[in-house]
Amino acid sequence: MTHPLVSSEGAVEFLNLPAPRTEGGMPLLNALHNRRSTRSFARRPLDDTLLSTLLWAAFGINRPDTGFRTAPSTRNCQEIDLYVALPEGLYVLEPLVWRLRLVTGEDLRAATGLQDYVSTVPLNLVYVSRLSKLDEADKPLRQFYTALDAGYISQNVYLFCAASGLATVARGLLDRRALARAMRLDPDQRVILAQSVGFPA
Ligand SMILES: Cc1cc2nc3c(=O)[nH]c(=O)nc-3n(C[C@H](O)[C@H](O)[C@H](O)COP(=O)(O)O)c2cc1C
Repeated sequence: MTHPLVSSEGAVEFLNLPAPRTEGGMPLLNALHNRRSTRSFARRPLDDTLLSTLLWAAFGINRPDTGFRTAPSTRNCQEIDLYVALPEGLYVLEPLVWRLRLVTGEDLRAATGLQDYVSTVPLNLVYVSRLSKLDEADKPLRQFYTALDAGYISQNVYLFCAASGLATVARGLLDRRALARAMRLDPDQRVILAQSVGFPA
């Protein structure tokens, strides 16, 4: 089934995201009760508003006057980019214009992990760090902080999924070098973590 944001011709260069929902939802404590990792997904895609709201919850801008985000980042470096691997192609989130930009029309879902379900789940998020945005001079500390920053985004996704009846699992088990090549990343970028999202099977 074609994702609703994609034209019938296939992947399009920019997918303009509808406004996300930024109010309501399940009470936080209930979402914490529901939070879990799930590795079994239906093939049904997320509709465009659900996708937009997922991305906003993950790492959208929640204070437009300052450009601050829904997840914290070390010294507000905002060095993590959200890549979205859909059947129609790989996209990267442009948070300021609130759209997805096409990176490649290839279906890279299978490349985002080493477990069977990653190739059929409707979407895989990949958290990619742009190291030069981190102003920490010490390399191990840069890696430490950027891993933390990705963790906050991942937990936002876990809680949004728990509150929205979606299934998700964070994934560190991946071939980062092969994935970076497939994703056309440049030498300044590092794959930190992936996360599958879909409806439960
Ligand atoms: C950084 C990180 C990496 C993970 N990597 C994987 C993974 O590669 N594959 C997987 O199936 N689960 C992965 N998980 C999910 C954990 O296995 C899961 O969180 C743990 O078993 C506890 O289950 P729960 O999330 O349902 O509480 C990862 C979790 C984290 C936080």
